[in-house]
Amino acid sequence: MNRREMLLTAGAGAVALLWPRPSLAQDAKGFTLPKLPYDYDALEPVIDKMTMTIHHTKHHQAYIDNLNKAIAGNADLQGKSIEELIANARSINPMTLRTAVINNGGGHLNHTFFWEIMAPKGQGGEPSAELAKAIEAYGGMQKLKDDVLAAALGRFGSGWAWVVVGANGALEVVSTANQDNPITATQNRPGRKPILGIDVWEHAYYLKYQNRRADYVKAWWNVANWKAISENYAKAKG
Ligand SMILES: [Fe+2]
Repeated sequence: MNRREMLLTAGAGAVALLWPRPSLAQDAKGFTLPKLPYDYDALEPVIDKMTMTIHHTKHHQAYIDNLNKAIAGNADLQGKSIEELIANARSINPMTLRTAVINNGGGHLNHTFFWEIMAPKGQGGEPSAELAKAIEAYGGMQKLKDDVLAAALGRFGSGWAWVVVGANGALEVVSTANQDNPITATQNRPGRKPILGIDVWEHAYYLKYQNRRADYVKAWWNVANWKAISENYAKAKG
């Protein structure tokens, strides 16, 4: 193992352990679509029923089907949790398999995470005292929302806007392309731990908001599940 591989392994492993999701376990048949924690129309009027239905049953399902196909017959990848696969994705070979895992495994991980950090309007609660303190240290809730919006609008094409806990333990706002997830370690940087992520692919908002990504992202905060986001923060801080 060379130095780069050691760095990747160390950085990614630390992240994977800090972000356990029982719903993301892999069984003998591979990964399966988790149930939504609410009805398809529960996030109305912020996210419409048709969008939620297609997003969950078609888009998320397709990522899972394609991930299962990609890893079928690969003993090294079978049995691993989706976080392990994605955190260490850069060390998967050959490149075609790596790309398939990053795209489809990332799609599975990101969407499962996304469903869990939303709640019907008015039921999302408030940030925990610890998270509220971290948001204050960041510059306040409005700055956080402004920066998430800027990250969402700055992402050309498809991707995600995230709030993560960075290496120094403070909150950071980042965006990723396609289905990349911040827990994936890169050559120059260990993985980061997301606590909130907004899907800014057009499939997440186009039926209701058409080209108005900004309106969707601004409205999204009405369905933020602060209880789940606070739990993510507590886990990320360890
Ligand atoms: Fe999506």
